[in-house]
Amino acid sequence: MRILVTGGAGYVGSVSVEALVEAGHGVVVLDDLSTGHDWADLEGATLVVGSCTDRPLVRRLLRDEQLEAVLHCAARSLVGESIADPARYYLDNVAGGIELLEAMRDTGVRRLVISSTAAVYGVPEATPIDEDAALRPINPYGETKRTLETAAAWYGSAYGLRSVALRYFNVAGASRRNGELHDPETHLIPNALAAVAGDGPPLTVFGEDYPTPDGTPIRDYLHVEDLAAAHLAALEATAPDDPGTDRALVCNLGSGRGFSVREVLAAVERVVGRPVPLTVGPRRAGDPPVLVAAIERAAEVLAWRPARSTLDEMIGSAWAWRQAHADRSRR
Ligand SMILES: NC(=O)c1ccc[n+]([C@@H]2O[C@H](COP(=O)([O-])OP(=O)(O)OC[C@H]3O[C@@H](n4cnc5c(N)ncnc54)[C@H](O)[C@@H]3O)[C@@H](O)[C@H]2O)c1
Repeated sequence: MRILVTGGAGYVGSVSVEALVEAGHGVVVLDDLSTGHDWADLEGATLVVGSCTDRPLVRRLLRDEQLEAVLHCAARSLVGESIADPARYYLDNVAGGIELLEAMRDTGVRRLVISSTAAVYGVPEATPIDEDAALRPINPYGETKRTLETAAAWYGSAYGLRSVALRYFNVAGASRRNGELHDPETHLIPNALAAVAGDGPPLTVFGEDYPTPDGTPIRDYLHVEDLAAAHLAALEATAPDDPGTDRALVCNLGSGRGFSVREVLAAVERVVGRPVPLTVGPRRAGDPPVLVAAIERAAEVLAWRPARSTLDEMIGSAWAWRQAHADRSRR
């Protein structure tokens, strides 16, 4: 298959490009490098620097490169920024997402996999969270992802688009070649590793008074290589003749298990062999105590199961990548 990967120079996208190339697919990456990296290792793929919100450019790429499917990873994805500047999120994630869908419609490309997020659920009523849980996002980031998911579903019933929206929980870990480097970094594991390495400030634990066994919030972590494998399965599931899937499928992706902040930090100390410098601060607004995915649907419909999502593998691979690319990781 020939696949356009938007945001392929970012964290999730670059590891997915590796898996797609490895599986024998032809890959064109479209990335504006706004949060991605020109040094991402995209061997075997073609990088085009530009925006997926640029309909004429996407149309031209889809046609000229004879692309058959799109893996849409590009997005604005910082919760706090989305609250401070919702316009940017509606313009890039929603209006820009529609430009992409329109370029696909113009060129007859009908296979789409979308990077969505657990943020579409907001504060869930029950845990683990399944895909039928109410969607009540509590920030523009989650809201704009929900809106794009819904648009893809309506494009399915009206125009024949076959889409899979994958609601990732917390992605972690690295491949040998690509890893996680955001600026600002808001994720627990890379921040803990930066603190251990002395490249970042001491880690802040936001609240130790949650109704969980050790008082810190519990989250579900997924190895980025397991996520890449899910992308492959989801792209296959958009085949026009695949009878097993809906026109607009939605699946959670996580490990199905939860770990508290304190458990993650203990694992970091075990893997790296050094203490994590930290301070304890107050709770952050909008952080639910527990967010764990129900992952049965992805297993049933995509025949996908996480294989590498243990804390030690995620932290170990992230640490190894960091050590091998210390010049990039240093902040
Ligand atoms: N990392 C996670 O834990 C996580 C969790 C849930 C959902 N997601 C979703 O997964 C996707 C990838 O996340 P990530 O962590 O790899 O982020 P990232 O910032 O590393 O990657 C996003 C990439 O998209 C590119 N980009 C942004 N806007 C663009 C545009 N208009 N045109 C072309 N390229 C553009 C950026 O330059 C970057 O390379 C996002 O959609 C995010 O919302 C990530």
